[in-house]
Parts: sequence; C-alpha cells; structure tokens
Amino acid sequence: MAWYVCSVALHILAACVWIGGMVFLALAVLPVLRRPAYQAVAVPLIHALGLRFRWIGWAALATLVATGVVNLSYRGIGWAQVRTGAAWQGWFGHVLALKLVLVALILVAAGAHDLLLGPLATRLANEHPDPARVRRIRRGAAWAGRGLLLLSVAVLVLGVMLVRGVP
Ligand code: HEM
Repeated sequence: MAWYVCSVALHILAACVWIGGMVFLALAVLPVLRRPAYQAVAVPLIHALGLRFRWIGWAALATLVATGVVNLSYRGIGWAQVRTGAAWQGWFGHVLALKLVLVALILVAAGAHDLLLGPLATRLANEHPDPARVRRIRRGAAWAGRGLLLLSVAVLVLGVMLVRGVP
C-alpha cells in the first residue's frame, strides 16, 4: 500500500514537473525573450534552455510511464489484461485507452519538437540563410510546443477522471 501511495505521488510530481516546466517556458520565459532588449541573446538562450529542459522533460515522461504501469498493476491491470483486452473494458478501460493514445501522441510530438524542429530552428537562425524559412520553422516549433501542452493538459484531466470518474 505504501508503495502504491509513493508511485501515485511520484506520478503526480512528474506531471507537475512536465506541465509546470512547459507553462513556465511558454508564459514567462519566451514572452520576455521576445522583447527587443533581449533580441541579441534570445536565440542562444532559447537553445540552451531547450537543451536543459529536454532531459528534465524526458525524465518526467519516463517517470510518468513507469509509475503509470505500477499504478495500473496495483489496480489489477497487467500484461495479461492488456493481451486479452480486459484492460480496455468499462469506464476505466475506455478512459485509460484514450489517455494512452494521447500519451503516445505526446511522445511523438515531444520527439519531433526536441529532435527535429527545435534544433533545426536554432541552426537556421544561427546561419541566417532565409529569414522567411527560419520564421516558418520557428513557428512550427512553437506550435508543436503548444500542441504538446494542450495534449498534456488533456491527459492530466483524463488521469483525474480515471481516479474520480465524472459525477
Ligand atoms: C503525460 C503523461 C501523464 C500525465 C500528465 C498523467 C497525469 C495523471 C494524473 C493527474 C492522475 C490523477 C491522479 C489523481 O487524481 O489522484 C493520473 C492517474 C493515473 N495515471 Fe497518469 N498521467 C500520464 C501518463 C500515464 C501513463 C503513461 C499511464 C500508464 C501507463 C498512466 C496511468 C495512470 C493511472 C493507472 C492512474 C490512476 C492512479 C491511481 O491508482 O490512483 N498515466 N495520471
């Protein structure tokens, strides 16, 4: 029982780190760095912050998946129930299935944002090849970031619904 409480607490802590980090970047750091006074340092700083948060974000996601699997096992759902399809039955199973589909989308969007769009935006901004293309890629990276935040909040709501249902 104590391990179950630890696992759920760690799950919620990792969700706080993952979503809180993105909210802080989107609502505090990026708007400040867009001010003209910080134009000269904005690109290297966004790059450095992106690299720093990348590992924190992936560690939080890995913790969410690992503790999520432990939480499921405490609720009697393991590989056997996944194989027979019993895991996806009823209210809990339907919400869980939707939650896991969105988590898979988050992993793909985070990979695309961190490994493709982010580094490409920084590289192009440093090389100054074509300002219109740089703007397009940076806008793409920004939208991937916003999509990631939206998906993550949806997964958080589904997590709460898993535990409490809808009155
Ligand atoms: C971005 C990823 C995720 C976020 C933000 C997230 C968030 C949450 C939140 C906020 C809760 C509610 C806790 C409560 O209300 O007490 C929860 C519960 C839960 N989550 Fe997740 N979760 C994520 C990924 C996962 C994954 C990948 C799994 C399964 C492999 C999972 C399985 C569960 C389970 C089983 C519970 C119920 C815990 C209990 O027994 O009380 N979650 N999640």
